[in-house]
Amino acid sequence: EKSGYDYFMLKEIQEQPSAVADTLRSHFQNGRITLDEQRLDPSTLREVDKVFVVACGTAYHAGLLAKQAIEHWTRIPVEVEMASEFRYRDPVLDRQTLVVAISQSGETADTLEAVRHAKDQKATVLAICNTNGAQIPRESDAVLYTHAGPEIGVASTKCFTAQVAAVLILGLALAEARGTKYPDEIAAEYAALQAMPDLIATTLQVGEQVRAVAREIASAKAILFLGRHVGYPVALEGALKLKELAYMHAEGFPAGELKHGPIALIEQDLPVVVVMPSPTGRPLLHQKMLSNIAEISARGARTIVIAEEGDELVAKHAAHLIEIPRTRTLLSPLLTTIPLQILAAEIAQLRGNDIDKPRNLAKSVTVE
Ligand code: F6R
Repeated sequence: EKSGYDYFMLKEIQEQPSAVADTLRSHFQNGRITLDEQRLDPSTLREVDKVFVVACGTAYHAGLLAKQAIEHWTRIPVEVEMASEFRYRDPVLDRQTLVVAISQSGETADTLEAVRHAKDQKATVLAICNTNGAQIPRESDAVLYTHAGPEIGVASTKCFTAQVAAVLILGLALAEARGTKYPDEIAAEYAALQAMPDLIATTLQVGEQVRAVAREIASAKAILFLGRHVGYPVALEGALKLKELAYMHAEGFPAGELKHGPIALIEQDLPVVVVMPSPTGRPLLHQKMLSNIAEISARGARTIVIAEEGDELVAKHAAHLIEIPRTRTLLSPLLTTIPLQILAAEIAQLRGNDIDKPRNLAKSVTVE
């Protein structure tokens, strides 16, 4: 049921506050973080000394954010790899390795084979999945279900933000198991997370402004996305959404890489979407990004800047400024992603594409 929307995807974008709220609600009870279907000894999580995250596509971008959160909160080293690469190599795993498989459908062939590859080497496997009883959670030692509800649009939106919430929950669960954070610190982080659904709802109000930007750039040849730190996976996700939906050439880069090649692509009027770090939370990165914006603007790029509200320093550098509410850095991708989803959906519609069923794509990739 599209409930008055032209496409399921547009409805699913609006459902993100509840997708995240429902995912959070079911994993925090009586002051403790809970996992689903835990078929392993609680001491196993305490002894983990390395984490591998395996996933495909959008879920891989949630994995890149898992690395930031888990390493920051637990000091456990985390590697993130596309399942299609991991499954055909000889990664270094053992009994103390936790492999986290992220999959909305729970049926993606490469991710499932990555799980089997990990289990063959005695690693512990935890699945983050949106589909109850799918094959990947069935073969895993523990599960953390996202509760985004069914996603009909082929391009993932609310399942992505629910996956981001889930990796943050997992980071806190590992911090709790290993004692790297005090219970009151974990409760404070969780409370910050619980404020996110309202902030996502506020962020959704940028829709009209983003659609106006989309009308201006819909006929561009290509669009670039720049980010740093947690903004980098968001840039990759923004580029992937645009490729899938608008069939436009799009690339996401870490802004620090510009000078190592991508800056050669900058030309007059090329739209470049920049995901700004917080001026208060990450002042050094913020300053670096201002220089990056100056460099690309000087070469004629048309900058579309996603920044924290009240970021006056960036305001004068941005051709278009899209403001999002202030939050903690690790949680900010839950907000910065939203305008990029709306941008891709709107450009795709202006180009006459069916955004629920992009050409050549399938919702569940059960063959390689
Ligand atoms: C992008 C998208 C795909 C999926 C990928 C993994 O919008 O939907 O990139 O994220 O095919 O699918 P799951 O999460 O079902 O394993």
